[in-house]
Amino acid sequence: MSLWSDLHDHRGRLIHKWAQYFPAYERHFARFRNTAASVLEIGVGEGGSLQMWRRYFGPMARLTGIDIDPKCAAYGEYNTQVRIGDQTDAAFLDAVMNEIGPVQIIIDDGSHLMPHVRRTFDLLYHHRLFDPNGIYVVEDLHTAYWPEFGGGLRRPGSFMELAKTHIDELHAAHTRGALAPTPFTAATMSIHVYDSMVIYERGRRPRNVSIMADEKGTRAVQILVNSGSTPPVPLPNSD
Ligand SMILES: C[S@@+](CC[C@H](N)C(=O)[O-])C[C@H]1O[C@@H](n2cnc3c(N)ncnc32)[C@H](O)[C@@H]1O
Repeated sequence: MSLWSDLHDHRGRLIHKWAQYFPAYERHFARFRNTAASVLEIGVGEGGSLQMWRRYFGPMARLTGIDIDPKCAAYGEYNTQVRIGDQTDAAFLDAVMNEIGPVQIIIDDGSHLMPHVRRTFDLLYHHRLFDPNGIYVVEDLHTAYWPEFGGGLRRPGSFMELAKTHIDELHAAHTRGALAPTPFTAATMSIHVYDSMVIYERGRRPRNVSIMADEKGTRAVQILVNSGSTPPVPLPNSD
């Protein structure tokens, strides 16, 4: 079963997703299938995506939806819960994270208003109960180009502009001191930009080590943050 074929077999509550998301979901979420992963989706809508995630992630997953609309409280099911609150409310988000953490996957499919999306990211990306190897998904970022959502091409404050600064932060160690590494630098393995969606994979990277390998074996060169590099040293596991 693929998520795409599952969507076509779906006869439950309304699901509202863009077609190009489906291959990306499978690429990034596959390792969490049939595990006890805790998955948080911001924006429940009609409840269909929670039903889809249940089928995809399997019986052990703990699914939680957040929505500001009280009607969504009715969309909870076995091991799927809905909490009613505002995605910009720090105390609410903290309470949910404390209830369901550690969380492996966070999907922001809520208001899509730029100040909201940014604030939710600020509140959750570095939350102590967001798994250090977790996945953070921001959906429907075409709104980052739409003024009615606080967006616009290269408009300061849009989430896409923030994502561009994240690309620089990911490379802070290579900027020769122009940009100091940030908590984001330390926490992030990779950033994936799709049409209307950005996916962050958290994870610790090796400490700026480039590897050389030839007939003399493998050795490591450490790239220093402000100046050049160290002389090559044998890797601990090389002869
Ligand atoms: C696009 S729908 C979610 C669709 C659903 N995830 C799906 O794929 O079928 C967006 C939802 O976000 C909710 N929402 C809007 N503003 C919000 C806010 N500030 N906090 C939490 N939820 C919000 C809306 O009530 C709506 O149900």
